[in-house]
Amino acid sequence: MELTEHARKNRAHWNRLADSYQAEHGPPLARVPLGWGVWSIPESELRVLGDVREKDVLELGCGGAQWSIGLARLGARCTGLDNSERQLEFARKAIEESGLYISLIHANAESVPLPDESFDIIFCDHGAMSFADPLLTVPEVARLLRPGGLFAFNAETPLHFICFDSDQDRISAELHSSYFDKRSDEEDGSVNFSLPYGEWISLFKKSGFEVEDLIELRPSEDAASTYRDWVSRDWARKWPAEQIWRLRRVKRAAS
Ligand SMILES: C[S@@+](CC[C@H](N)C(=O)[O-])C[C@H]1O[C@@H](n2cnc3c(N)ncnc32)[C@H](O)[C@@H]1O
Repeated sequence: MELTEHARKNRAHWNRLADSYQAEHGPPLARVPLGWGVWSIPESELRVLGDVREKDVLELGCGGAQWSIGLARLGARCTGLDNSERQLEFARKAIEESGLYISLIHANAESVPLPDESFDIIFCDHGAMSFADPLLTVPEVARLLRPGGLFAFNAETPLHFICFDSDQDRISAELHSSYFDKRSDEEDGSVNFSLPYGEWISLFKKSGFEVEDLIELRPSEDAASTYRDWVSRDWARKWPAEQIWRLRRVKRAAS
């Protein structure tokens, strides 16, 4: 399948951004590799992925593969997929330095060149589920997961999405766009996606998923982050900026 227009834009964007992104966020991500979201809330506290030993795990939008490296250390068989060649160069280097075996795939998460039912767990932390069209990725994940497999992803909440003030290029405490109508946003050549809650749930059901949990992330009073241009701690303590969907594949999406 040809790249969608937004995947082409995002590939160019992440190829341009990768060096500065990894310089700023790479070291903290590597120091705390299993921390969810911009406040790095530990997986050991949230228990989203469960026991990953001997599981086939796909990270959708792995960036520098800090998460995949952390999971491979716990015994998972990891594959990292990313749409950006430059991000994958960082991932390749980090994997080599780790001495672990992790396969890497350069692909768009909307159309993954792998067989049906290849994985037990598919996940991402602000990865492809934020930058690819959910109407394409959710059925694609259902195809790639084995029955009973886990799909978990952390992404921006609809509330943060509609409070973003594009004129000021920052998050605000006011609603700036229509909750029902806004599906995607383009800033500086990067396109990102979100859906209203009802539409997320109907897309999950239609694609063969059961919702197990929706975890709204709240930073602690003294939480630190290298992503504070995206959200302030005060904002994220009052309102949820990020949320983790935890879904179980019960049947395959109807094609
Ligand atoms: C914000 S970074 C997050 C990466 C990693 N989870 C981290 O915390 O650093 C988003 C990543 O998603 C990748 N990405 C964006 N759209 C994608 C798509 N359609 N398919 C696969 N990866 C994609 C980007 O190239 C980028 O590496």
